[in-house]
Amino acid sequence: MRKAALALALVAASLVVLPACKRASPAPKPNPLRQAYGTQQDWNNPGHLFPLDYQQTQGKRIFYEKCVWCHADSTPAGPSNRSNLNPTPPLINDGATLNPLSDAYLENVITLGGAAMGKSAIMPPWGRTLTQEDIRALVAYIRAVAQPPYQRPAQPGPRYSTR
Ligand code: HEC
Repeated sequence: MRKAALALALVAASLVVLPACKRASPAPKPNPLRQAYGTQQDWNNPGHLFPLDYQQTQGKRIFYEKCVWCHADSTPAGPSNRSNLNPTPPLINDGATLNPLSDAYLENVITLGGAAMGKSAIMPPWGRTLTQEDIRALVAYIRAVAQPPYQRPAQPGPRYSTR
């Protein structure tokens, strides 16, 4: 009889305890870096990484081949040419300067160069060196690393704008 009572007590106890174990712990916050294809270190804050998708990672690769020499303060080879140029090219993460410009404008200035867009001719045209896909990837990368962060407009602007 004592055994039966003990078994009953154990069953009763497990009914009280087990549901408590089942209570779900709050879901862990998804970490965007876990799903990312690549990353870019934040130039303003080395402890911060921007997650990059595939296209943005292609843009990063092209940026570090073709653009880093004028659009960054340091390069894989050491110093950059940026401080020698007048006008000084915007840093590629300069959201204050680049966020207001539309995707269409950025594609145009990269494809056609500064002179064609009424800007300095020091900004070369890339339309014969890079494919349109490359240039779209560069724009995607520019948007991904912008500080302050780029907010895509709710209503896409006109396809062709001068700014
Ligand atoms: C030889 C130096 C040089 C290289 C290399 C270069 N740029 Fe530039 N870029 C400039 C200069 C100078 C300006 C500023 C033009 C002005 O404000 O008149 C500029 C401006 C820009 C702008 C801003 C245009 C605007 O209207 O404010 C973007 C975007 C840009 N470059 C993208 C790129 C990309 C992408 C690459 C690589 C494919 C690249 N640049 C390579 C010199 C360069």
